[in-house]
Amino acid sequence: MKLIKNFKIAVIGLGYVGLPLATAFSSKFKVIGYDTDKSRIKELQKFVDRTNEVEKKKLLKIKKNLKYTFNFDDIKKCNFFILTVPTPITKKNKPDLKSIIDVAEKLALIIRKGSFVILESTVYPGVTENILGKIIEKKSNLKINKDFYLGYSPERINPGDKIHTIENIKKVVSASNKYSEKIIYNIYKKIISKGIFLAKDIKTAEAAKVIENTQRDLNIAFMNELLIIFNKMQIDYFDVIKAAKTKWNFIDFSPGLVGGHCIGVDPYYLTYASKKIGINPKVILSGRYTNNYMAEYISSLVLKKTSSISNPRILILGYTFKENVPDTRNTKINQLCTLLSKNKNYKIYLNDPYIHKLPKKLELKKNIFLIKKLKKNYFDTILFLVPHSNYLKMGLKNIKKFGRKNSFVIDLKGKISGKFIQQT
Ligand SMILES: NC(=O)c1ccc[n+]([C@@H]2O[C@H](COP(=O)([O-])OP(=O)(O)OC[C@H]3O[C@@H](n4cnc5c(N)ncnc54)[C@H](O)[C@@H]3O)[C@@H](O)[C@H]2O)c1
Repeated sequence: MKLIKNFKIAVIGLGYVGLPLATAFSSKFKVIGYDTDKSRIKELQKFVDRTNEVEKKKLLKIKKNLKYTFNFDDIKKCNFFILTVPTPITKKNKPDLKSIIDVAEKLALIIRKGSFVILESTVYPGVTENILGKIIEKKSNLKINKDFYLGYSPERINPGDKIHTIENIKKVVSASNKYSEKIIYNIYKKIISKGIFLAKDIKTAEAAKVIENTQRDLNIAFMNELLIIFNKMQIDYFDVIKAAKTKWNFIDFSPGLVGGHCIGVDPYYLTYASKKIGINPKVILSGRYTNNYMAEYISSLVLKKTSSISNPRILILGYTFKENVPDTRNTKINQLCTLLSKNKNYKIYLNDPYIHKLPKKLELKKNIFLIKKLKKNYFDTILFLVPHSNYLKMGLKNIKKFGRKNSFVIDLKGKISGKFIQQT
């Protein structure tokens, strides 16, 4: 068996997942980080991480072991390739595997006998072996489990969360045969302190990852639906939850605008694979439907609440897809702003500590403004949608001061007031 220390690792795709992983491995191995985004590589070469996941101090500390490149040839000498490329969905909510396919085609040209290819991106069961592995096999003339080996190890990091970092969470690992399982296990063991779970096989590990996020999506959808029901009944959702939570087995989740690249995307990977085998997954898709409806629901509440005001001013606190991260992928605030801006008499003011210019998708709207300073006694509606910690520090009392007399505040996650809607 190959000595673990002789492995040279390439991490392909240096985003929210890839960079922390490359950083962790570089404490034990020589690592090359490859990304197609030249500007990202140039920033990393200056030890700047635009995602705020890895501090400059850390990047400087491991600079001898972690090199960055946008030239695929530079990873030729590696023999342990880890893919952390994006797996988004198309406009029709179908898996978009083009990054995985692109890497597979390039890897086939450089891979040598005895190498390992591990996928960390979220996919549906079958992608690692039937797409990634097969493309490499076909184009390189090397055979899986004879000349090279496959593995799948799903990523569980939670951007912005400094506690559940890669080293501190249990990691699921799987491989294409027993020999590769041992090697992959031992390599990951070097960096994971919380233990490794060996899944039965690659398909099982792929399925486990996709259901982790699907379960979360469904739990949030349930809460969103309850919020809509109770609000119509004029019962405050958060008062209900406070009471229900006193039961030992009640599971607490927050309602919310499910955006980003995981929770709102991964269920579609599973439903796609499910439909391919003739099963129409009704529960999963209805959760998606509810979560996709939430921006429209909030917009309808604003319309109702401001119907008697001639030129309402709406303040939106938070734009990124979740709190305390600069990540704006698939943020549902775009949908909300677009819906609200259809009312030409509305003025929509967007504020977010992570956003420094009006997002592209909104820049053509004449009645949406990005503001850095918040005026007191100015807004008719305050939508507190993304609970960044600066807003929590500000507190409800100060946030209410931005509202005019009798304006109202929506606290979607109940994080600042413990109430869904209230008057200022
Ligand atoms: N971010 C999370 O919270 C999280 C958590 C768990 C799993 N995941 C999964 O991990 C994967 C990566 O997610 P992410 O958030 O790090 O994405 P990301 O967009 O932050 O990073 C992906 C990186 O890959 C690069 N890239 C794209 N195509 C490439 C190609 N063909 N070759 C090389 N590099 C390429 C991009 O330039 C980018 O820097 C996805 O499958 C995602 O679902 C993400």
